[in-house]
Amino acid sequence: MSKKLYHGAAYYPELWNEQVMEQDIRLMKEAGINVVRIGEFAWSTMEPEEGRIDIGFFAKVINRLYENGIETVMCTPTPTPPIWFTHGHPERMYVDEHLQTMGHGSRQHPCTNNPYFREKAAIITEHIAKAVGRLPGVIGWQIDNEFKAHVAECMCGTCKRLWHEWLERRYGTVEKLNDAWGTQIWSEYYLRFEQVPQPGPAPFLHNSSLRTMYQLFSMEKIAEFSDEQAAIIRKYSDAPITHNSSVAFHVDNERLFQNLDFASFDTYAVSDNSPGYLINCDLWRNFKKDRPFWIMETSPSHSASLESYAKPHPNGYLRAEAVAAYALGAEAFCYWLWRQQRAGCEQPHGSVISAWGKPTVGYANVLEVEQARKEIEPIIVRSEAAQAEVAVTYSDRAKAFLKTEPHKKLNHRALVTAFYERILHMGIHRDLVPEGAELDGYKLLFTPFIHYISGDYRDRALKFVENGGVWVIGPLSGGRTEHHTIHTDAALGELERFAGVETLYTYPMDGTDTIGRAFGVSAPLSLWSCIFEPKEAKAIGVMEQGLAPGKAFITEHSRGQGKIVMLGSMPAGDEGDEMLRKLIDHYAREAGVKLRTDVTKGTVVAPRIADGRRYWFVVNMDGAGGSVTILQEGVDALTGQSIKPGKLEIGKYEYRIVEFVDS
Ligand code: GAL
Repeated sequence: MSKKLYHGAAYYPELWNEQVMEQDIRLMKEAGINVVRIGEFAWSTMEPEEGRIDIGFFAKVINRLYENGIETVMCTPTPTPPIWFTHGHPERMYVDEHLQTMGHGSRQHPCTNNPYFREKAAIITEHIAKAVGRLPGVIGWQIDNEFKAHVAECMCGTCKRLWHEWLERRYGTVEKLNDAWGTQIWSEYYLRFEQVPQPGPAPFLHNSSLRTMYQLFSMEKIAEFSDEQAAIIRKYSDAPITHNSSVAFHVDNERLFQNLDFASFDTYAVSDNSPGYLINCDLWRNFKKDRPFWIMETSPSHSASLESYAKPHPNGYLRAEAVAAYALGAEAFCYWLWRQQRAGCEQPHGSVISAWGKPTVGYANVLEVEQARKEIEPIIVRSEAAQAEVAVTYSDRAKAFLKTEPHKKLNHRALVTAFYERILHMGIHRDLVPEGAELDGYKLLFTPFIHYISGDYRDRALKFVENGGVWVIGPLSGGRTEHHTIHTDAALGELERFAGVETLYTYPMDGTDTIGRAFGVSAPLSLWSCIFEPKEAKAIGVMEQGLAPGKAFITEHSRGQGKIVMLGSMPAGDEGDEMLRKLIDHYAREAGVKLRTDVTKGTVVAPRIADGRRYWFVVNMDGAGGSVTILQEGVDALTGQSIKPGKLEIGKYEYRIVEFVDS
């Protein structure tokens, strides 16, 4: 639970002189900025020459800010090692999939696995932690910045060596690897681990196992770097540690946050894509259940760099974003960035204050956020985001499998977002949960677009079903083994036995004029699909037309007190959307899902609970206004006025807080 709400900004005091800093502090206080994040690119200021380290400037800044009521999240500067580290040392640099070695400049140019990099990173972080770790102004830490945002899997010599070690740990003997990957194919067969290539340039596609495992290896290594850095900080500071991540990056967020203290993310979704914004809140809430998440970066108006810019937010949208985030479990809402940069490659980016110290186009919106923050803070701190009853599994490991096998440029994030959006628009309160999440408290679980379903995940889901949950599997889930190969006992392996089905065929439905019927709707079917022969299960959706007419694409099977539902194909178009809504609605009712409203599309209801009280934070996100039906008399928590049962109208980007007292 939050004790206070933060309203913050990224700040780069090393880029300005002292007068500007004094002006910044004054302006921050006027704008209600109570936390800043500093230091994440400042390595050359801290260590201008190798071994000459001085963190004094940052300690002074932190203290000065603190005297003015502004707290600090201190960062480690490892995304940008200085020239003394890079110059003349191509072996320390990141190498991309085309075997191009990065030179100095931009950021994320080093290989984060390079031993010398690790050594230097450990030294600088230790100095920082020692110098500022106990300052009262430091309330948190951020490791690095957006790991693997610009880069993916490194192909350098160091990574090659580590890759071989990783494989040996995973497979034990090269024979086991050969067997798991089926390397007799195309004469890939390896005699020793050292011969296993990295998935670099090749005339055609690499073996699926090689590509997926290399991604998992890379995700594991970057998380290890984060663990290593966190351990150093903990020696000198008790402040909680995070990393600012995103589902767009080449990381496994679940693994990354495992050894960090709180979760945070960056988002630059434009106002037309509010589901793309909200999905992050519904996911990040679940990486660290015991601590609220932070929005570490978002633009007060627009994102931009030298080469592009996004549409600035309409007035009013920023406040809607902030209120929705706080209500959905955020403790902080922070901007990138405070003062517009005068140099570099991001001068055109939206900021709170211009490079010449004046309010920007987003400034009035920042003031609105601050006003709202103050208004809702007492309610947020005495309540917490309600436990959702519907969960959708989000998996960065599935993202890796889909990157290897994208069929038609499919990616996990876009597929899951579209799936999520439907649930959101249906007014159902929902969680996105990482693969390892406990499933207690949920009633309905969706597992879409996960090529490989692990035994551990399956066992947890089966227990959930036995206790009365409804588990909907698919589309596109379960058809691959942990090594990214095809099952040879059955199309979906053991899963079929539990689901009471036999998969007859798997093939792509696109372009086959397949029509399926379920829940009283006929719709075209799409994507790579599974066609079932129900054994103990019963057919719920049947193909009316296509290559296998009369066969099932949706089945349902009771198990314990719950049910397993197989969704073998992706219903498409408007009818497909209707069919999926009916499916969700049907199983939500059957599972007894109650946290649900009739809120209109574009408006969101974030339920929160406190002792004996419930709150609905109703926020319009699309600028068109909306409404929701209030079923029992409530009170407007901000004005104290009574709210009668019936339609509650919400204006453009407006928010209301309805309080219900349970008798
Ligand atoms: C983030 C990054 C920031 C800044 C921002 C611009 O990805 O962490 O440093 O570049 O994007 O939108």
